[in-house]
Amino acid sequence: MRDAYIVQSVRTPGCKQNKGLYNQTRPEELISFIMKSAVERTKNLKPEDLDDVMLGCAFPEGEQGLNLGRIAPKMAGFPDKVSGATVNRFCASGLEAIALASIRVQMGWSEVTMGAGVESMTFVPMGGHTPRPHPVFSRTNPDMYISMGITAENVANRYNVSRADQDKFAADSQAKATRARDNKLFTEIVPTPANKYVKQADGTYKKEQFIVEHDDGIRATTLEGLAKLRPAFAAGGSVTAGNSSQTTDGARPPSSPPRKNARNWGWSPWPDWYPMPPSAANPMKWA
Ligand SMILES: CC(C)(COP(=O)(O)OP(=O)(O)OC[C@H]1O[C@@H](n2cnc3c(N)ncnc32)[C@H](O)[C@@H]1OP(=O)(O)O)[C@@H](O)C(=O)NCCC(=O)NCCS
Repeated sequence: MRDAYIVQSVRTPGCKQNKGLYNQTRPEELISFIMKSAVERTKNLKPEDLDDVMLGCAFPEGEQGLNLGRIAPKMAGFPDKVSGATVNRFCASGLEAIALASIRVQMGWSEVTMGAGVESMTFVPMGGHTPRPHPVFSRTNPDMYISMGITAENVANRYNVSRADQDKFAADSQAKATRARDNKLFTEIVPTPANKYVKQADGTYKKEQFIVEHDDGIRATTLEGLAKLRPAFAAGGSVTAGNSSQTTDGARPPSSPPRKNARNWGWSPWPDWYPMPPSAANPMKWA
């Protein structure tokens, strides 16, 4: 098996679902913009060098449906020969997309494949537009359909992670993000255009564009403020809007993993990509 390397990693800012700066920007626009940026920022890489695109998406329907893995590279201006597939492993979809991209290189099926991920939780909310669990199977296996919020509650109960510990972690995380933003450490962010539709005097809407430079969910946070929040998923629970991951709009083509001779292209490869055999646990017991 050949080696595969990651040589590029950029992303759009991540913005809050519904209330955030990308709430009027379609996911295809986010992902195609950032795919193009990834290629432009990679020395000696031309779009025609890409063999394939693996695009992770947890709810590939509506605006991010059909085969966005194929549509987005075309929107980015890549040539027709760049094929693409959409990959779904829910919240690990982007990671799975990188793994599949790497496997293609490792197996010799491809020289350069782009792994990527996109989600507009504004346009396609968590669970999708029409969730329809199997009527019989879901009664005996409700655990297959629970949200990560409930899984977080289960993990917290099983491993005795207190509300105070979760809030402390959340406050530290917000403080680190603030420091990183203020010290310009988010070098992987590419300022990315957003749309807003502004109502005109005659009742029509005009599309205006502006640039988003930072993740808009970073906020001044105190332990006192977090302690006031009510549980978001379970009565008497400990997971809140302040200590859980936010729901986000954003896109990222984190890698173009080329083969062992990456240096011949003039690239500084990141560390080796190791095999990623997945395993599953019961979501109710997390074991
Ligand atoms: C928990 C959840 C339902 C909250 O959604 P939401 O209501 O849209 O969340 P918001 O960020 O708007 O927060 C709601 C309120 O909580 C409070 N809040 C949130 N973060 C806070 C913080 N750091 N400090 C103080 N208050 C905070 C605010 O009052 C906020 O309202 P405001 O910003 O309008 O004042 C949503 O974030 C969620 O589903 N998260 C889990 C995502 C998930 O499971 N992902 C899968 C991962 S695998």
